[in-house]
Amino acid sequence: MVSVSSALPPPIATQILPVALSDIDFPRDADMPNVQQSSVTYTNLHKAADMIRNHIAPVAFPTETVYGLGASALSTTAVRQIFAAKNRPLDNPLIVHISSVSQLRRLLDTKIPNIYEPLIQKFWPGPLTIILPLPAPIRNEDGIETPAISPACTPGQNTFGVRMPSHPVARALIAISDTPIAAPSANASSRPSPTTAMHVYTDMAGRIPLILDGGACNVGLESTVVDGTVSPPAILRPGGVSIEEIRKYGGPLWMGVITGKSDAGHDEKVRTPGMKYRHYSPKAKVVVFLGQGDGSGGEILRYLRGLKGDSKLGVLPSRLFNLDSWDEEIKK
Ligand code: TXA
Ligand code: MG
Repeated sequence: MVSVSSALPPPIATQILPVALSDIDFPRDADMPNVQQSSVTYTNLHKAADMIRNHIAPVAFPTETVYGLGASALSTTAVRQIFAAKNRPLDNPLIVHISSVSQLRRLLDTKIPNIYEPLIQKFWPGPLTIILPLPAPIRNEDGIETPAISPACTPGQNTFGVRMPSHPVARALIAISDTPIAAPSANASSRPSPTTAMHVYTDMAGRIPLILDGGACNVGLESTVVDGTVSPPAILRPGGVSIEEIRKYGGPLWMGVITGKSDAGHDEKVRTPGMKYRHYSPKAKVVVFLGQGDGSGGEILRYLRGLKGDSKLGVLPSRLFNLDSWDEEIKK
């Protein structure tokens, strides 16, 4: 009998490997972490770092914001593997993750613009991405040029986004692989960003070989993307650092920061993809309640009572709501 081969590649076995934050010590100004030798964390971090350094496959790893899907930002082949695993549109730029400011300086051909100094001091390592001018290609003695960062990270742009994550696993992975890591959130394109290894597994099983499991992300919201290369400076994507914090700690130049426009057309270059592509689309119906209210959630309760059937419901209350007062009522 003749078998007909399918056009799809066979699914990859996806491993979830544990890493313990308590095994890693990475002081703010250090270039390398101390990782407890002979721990499972050490073995698993090195396994993931080898995959990244040798461009074997993208690796999912925890950051303080959301889980990322990382590969070498220096290799177009490696970065393309991220786009393929996520099914991500190719014109959507990726954030480059670095483990120290000295590693960033090695990537650049100019100084980090002064406007970023106070923000870097205050928020790095942490959930802030800054936009920088793209460095010129590196020319070797035979005159052959190699891009300083793979153009696959920065489709059609003359800038790139970079951040230093504070999560010890993310930072250790970058430092041990000795590689700047391009990493979007580790969800399938258009799905919500994952904050646990199981979320990643749900979206990515069969598409990537390795997920490092470092527990739940504590920020749970992506990094704030700021652009200080334009005047006035702009917030391109709100996230883990608030606009008030940027104004407060950024110094005078950031007092007049504006928020990016949100109406990019499909033929426009993407300044930030939330403006162009369907993003964060959960499969369930989402209802957002606005307003100050009195903290008792009366309007929400009225909505819940009006629901028919016994379908499951998740509620994400803001801090304004006093959950104790309406827990019992919901159960009724
Ligand atoms: O918290 C985060 O930022 C997570 C974790 C994994 O670090 N990463 C993340 O990546 O959210 P992603 O690919 O899902 O979102 C990248 C964001 C996009 O809004 C993108 O447009 C913006 O960063 N970005 C990257 N490079 C840019 C550039 N050159 N110009 C403007 N925006 C850029
Ligand atoms: Mg994303």
